Amino acid sequence: MKNIVVLVSGGGTNLQALLDAQARGEIRNGKITAVVSSTPGAFALERAKGANVPGHVVNRKDYDSRESFTEALLGKLSELNADLIVLAGFLYILSPAFVERYENRIINIHPALIPSFCGDGFYGLKVHEKALEYGVKLTGATVHFVSAEADAGPIILQKAVAIEEGDTAEILQKRVMEQAEWKLLPEAVSLFCQGRLHVEGRIVRIDQAE
Ligand code: GRF
Repeated sequence: MKNIVVLVSGGGTNLQALLDAQARGEIRNGKITAVVSSTPGAFALERAKGANVPGHVVNRKDYDSRESFTEALLGKLSELNADLIVLAGFLYILSPAFVERYENRIINIHPALIPSFCGDGFYGLKVHEKALEYGVKLTGATVHFVSAEADAGPIILQKAVAIEEGDTAEILQKRVMEQAEWKLLPEAVSLFCQGRLHVEGRIVRIDQAE
């Protein structure tokens, strides 16, 4: 059984999707044992509590550098014995030392079809504003392993979502979450826990179900 720790900073709808999938028995061979928030008041901590999952805070504001924050996070994660770390709306870019320590064991969800609309500065509503500004007809979501460069690690799953006439960034954000993010993230986590993901360079090979 893989030990899953979810890192959050905000509302936590993707965490909720994971908790709901777990309650339905859809996270095979894995268990969410802890949620760690970088923000003390994050609503995601309430969601964890509601599902009887212990919540922890490693407050970014208590540390004056990314390195010292990373050290504290690493300490917490090794205390929690994490096999898999899921970034579910976690706002901070992890240091290379962190990524190296958990190589191919950190999963992130990004609300666009990588390599479009991603990287530094592409977070939250901005991603959807940029997609609308550019005029793409399709956007979507991507689940990927985390590498030292933002949003650049090996891609696990992607799902396209259509842009519709009259979309605002808010409307599009909601559609991408409902149609793609909340499905893809639990699916990728379950695949990881079953040992069905194999990383070969940039390519992630997925074993078929037996
Ligand atoms: C999601 O859009 C996710 O793709 C991105 O941050 C947002 C987090 O939302 N990485 P939530 O906290 O899961 O509601």
